[in-house]
Amino acid sequence: MAQTTQAPRALSGAAAPSDWQRGGWRAYPRVQMPDYPDTAALNAVETQLAKYPPLVFAGEARRLRAHLADAAQGRAFLLQGGDCAESFSQFSADNIRDTFKVMLQMAVVLTWGAQMPVIKVGRMAGQFAKPRSAPTEVIGGRELPSYRGDIINGFDFTDAARVPDPTRMLQAYTQAAASLNLLRAFSTGGYADIHRVQSWIADFTDGAEAARYRDIADRISDAMAFMQAAGVTAETAHELGSVEFYTSHEALLLEYEEALARIDSTTGLPVAGSGHMLWIGDRTRQVDGAHVEFCRGVQNPIGLKCGPSITTDDLKVLVARLNPGNEPGRLTLIARFGAGQVGDHLPRLIRAVKDEGANVVWSCDPMHGNTVKSASGYKTRPFDSVLREVREFFAVHAAEGTIPAGVHFEMTGQDVTECTGGVRAVTDEDLSSRYHTACDPRLNASQSLELAFLVAEELRARRTGTAAGLRDAV
Ligand code: PEP
Ligand code: CO
Repeated sequence: MAQTTQAPRALSGAAAPSDWQRGGWRAYPRVQMPDYPDTAALNAVETQLAKYPPLVFAGEARRLRAHLADAAQGRAFLLQGGDCAESFSQFSADNIRDTFKVMLQMAVVLTWGAQMPVIKVGRMAGQFAKPRSAPTEVIGGRELPSYRGDIINGFDFTDAARVPDPTRMLQAYTQAAASLNLLRAFSTGGYADIHRVQSWIADFTDGAEAARYRDIADRISDAMAFMQAAGVTAETAHELGSVEFYTSHEALLLEYEEALARIDSTTGLPVAGSGHMLWIGDRTRQVDGAHVEFCRGVQNPIGLKCGPSITTDDLKVLVARLNPGNEPGRLTLIARFGAGQVGDHLPRLIRAVKDEGANVVWSCDPMHGNTVKSASGYKTRPFDSVLREVREFFAVHAAEGTIPAGVHFEMTGQDVTECTGGVRAVTDEDLSSRYHTACDPRLNASQSLELAFLVAEELRARRTGTAAGLRDAV
């Protein structure tokens, strides 16, 4: 039940492409990035950011890569989660604490299910820039440029707010730095003690609605009581009193990423200083595009979102380009197809990866393929579709003999009403009551923990060979 991820196995160093430069992406076609009207202001911000300290350090990114190498080989499980878009207006210690808190609870439940360390990676401290389905938005007959995340422009539907403003990058940096500072304090300062986390889980399952999860919660408390009786406590085992927590975001705004890229003094290799793990979105993964060009050169673990439109040939090129040394832990493929569609796409991608002999971490994002418009007009995601996609992901991996190594959720520790369903059922009519997301609908604290229980059951069934009906799910 070690809560802190155990020390990862050692990895050889990543090779740096010799033909890469931090600004090299500028020569490639870019999509989903703003055109800043004031070039002088943009340059001034870039110069300033380039002088600031990095937010994360190369050794941390390397350590995360080593943990992910364990996940690729079935010795660890990845839990990645947080806001769709962090916002300036909702920035507060309580928000950060609550998301961190629910992720810790989920991690303990998943540790029980998987019987292996859970790697905790927040979509936090840098998740500000958003790709959009259309460049403009029409409200009440008026058309304005789309909102692209607080690091780029403002959410208000006014001409002024929607102009891309480079100084927002400085505010994003400051917010990310303060968020990380708090996360580091929570991780090691006693807040993350596994006994506290276990008592929060027990509180959740005390409620009448969540009774069906009580059995798992009881088994976790039994394991804790046993360890305590055997003398294993936070005092004797540091792992029980603290956690390793990593940050991640979509590497969308490349001016920001370039300005924070640094050379790792230990290896002499480039590393992104904006977060531990970066991912490339489903809309920006063009094989000859700017985003792939930037990401291929930094040492950090890289995620690649794979939606229904990805071709097998493109996937092969992307895997080779992003991980030429085939290092385990370097590349995480994040499948996001939508419930009912996993069986149409995941097998062909798994086979392509097998054909190439590529080492990857397979993770499942059951959020982005399951967004629907509710009768009340809100963008939402039904809890049942989210769960169904995760189950299909597990079933396909069982059928292909490969490893389902992680999950990726849009979630918050707040009691929002953005996704429908769950044991404390949110209905279509409830959506308007606490719909606070700056972008996509997130699972609330209760829905997130419930999903962790259900995924834990799935992991448990796979481990114990009782995955009844798993194959039938596809
Ligand atoms: C996201 O993760 O918020 C996102 C936009 O995902 P995708 O690129 O998979 O659509
Ligand atoms: Co999203």
